[in-house]
Amino acid sequence: MTETMRCVEIEGKGGPPDVLKIATRPRPAAGEGEVLIRVAACGVNRPDVLQRQGGYPPPAGASDIPGLEVAGIVAARGANAGAWNVGDPVCALVTGGGYAEYVAAPAPQCLPVPKGLSPIEAAGIPETFFTVWTNVFERGRLQRDETLLVHGGSSGIGTTAIQMASRLGARVFATAGSADKCAACERLGAAKAINYRETDFVAAVKELTGGTGVDVILDMVGADYIERNIRSLAVEGRLVQIGFQKGAKAEVNFMPLMLKRLTYTGSTLRIQSAASKGRIAEALRRNVWPLIEAGEIRPVVHATFPLDRAADAHRLMESNAHIGKIILTT
Ligand SMILES: NC(=O)c1ccc[n+]([C@@H]2O[C@H](COP(=O)([O-])OP(=O)(O)OC[C@H]3O[C@@H](n4cnc5c(N)ncnc54)[C@H](OP(=O)(O)O)[C@@H]3O)[C@@H](O)[C@H]2O)c1
Repeated sequence: MTETMRCVEIEGKGGPPDVLKIATRPRPAAGEGEVLIRVAACGVNRPDVLQRQGGYPPPAGASDIPGLEVAGIVAARGANAGAWNVGDPVCALVTGGGYAEYVAAPAPQCLPVPKGLSPIEAAGIPETFFTVWTNVFERGRLQRDETLLVHGGSSGIGTTAIQMASRLGARVFATAGSADKCAACERLGAAKAINYRETDFVAAVKELTGGTGVDVILDMVGADYIERNIRSLAVEGRLVQIGFQKGAKAEVNFMPLMLKRLTYTGSTLRIQSAASKGRIAEALRRNVWPLIEAGEIRPVVHATFPLDRAADAHRLMESNAHIGKIILTT
């Protein structure tokens, strides 16, 4: 192992090519309860773009290098690093530091690379699978035979939510911003995708559910969607907020919250403890890994860039032209 590594640093705030710079830094070491991963590939997520723009600083103690998920090989073990051995192929959720040749990851946040998947595909799993599991199935309590509406259906999060929920027996509707994106959502398992630029999703949901509304909504849009989501929920429905791409402020008529006995909740993954993320990892391994290994769920990889083209990866994400995941390779 080399003592230094290549990584991507964020220098200041601004557009991708101005601030995403290749740098050389000391290689991290595996601390207590951690493994050191030789990174083969790393997923790009919208929170990385927000971090680059200065709106999502890394939590205390986290690396300032961007990157929340990786796949690679265990290169070293710290003390008490669980069952992982040097040489194991793993994918891992990290609180930062993924855009690099090496990253240290808490052992509970690592999962085996599912059989049959490339490191590029595996790198696109952790951030969206952890987020969707904990928000849709734990906070949203989605059950088999219930209905789920996923906004941003063609996003990394959306393509995961559609596949996971439909394979686990729910009826899934999605919104997306073009005909191509809607077709992709339906190929992934959505019963119907609504082009929100042409059709009011509230009216569409009403029609699709015979007037009853959906049981769970996964929303990353916010602003005026909040009231429209509340109107689109069935009695005892659950609205789960994971992002506010249009804004976190709105004037909302909350009366239906009482009348329909709704639950409005949300969460962010990054600030949660390693123990909490480890618990989500266990649930994924039990409930979702068999579906990936059976070929029923597959991460959707839209594009791959080498690490030194991280700026192009961010530019693509900001264009919203992608469907699924954008991945960096080291
Ligand atoms: N809370 C958490 O723990 C957590 C974790 C990870 C990600 N997130 C959030 O989840 C969201 C998706 O992340 P990602 O990495 O999957 O991002 P992504 O692949 O870049 O997808 C974002 C998608 O949102 C859609 N969108 C953007 N602005 C919109 C608007 N005003 N109205 C409707 N749709 C809009 C775009 O598709 P269209 O072309 O269809 O508009 C875009 O493809 C982000 O908001 C991110 O911050 C939250």
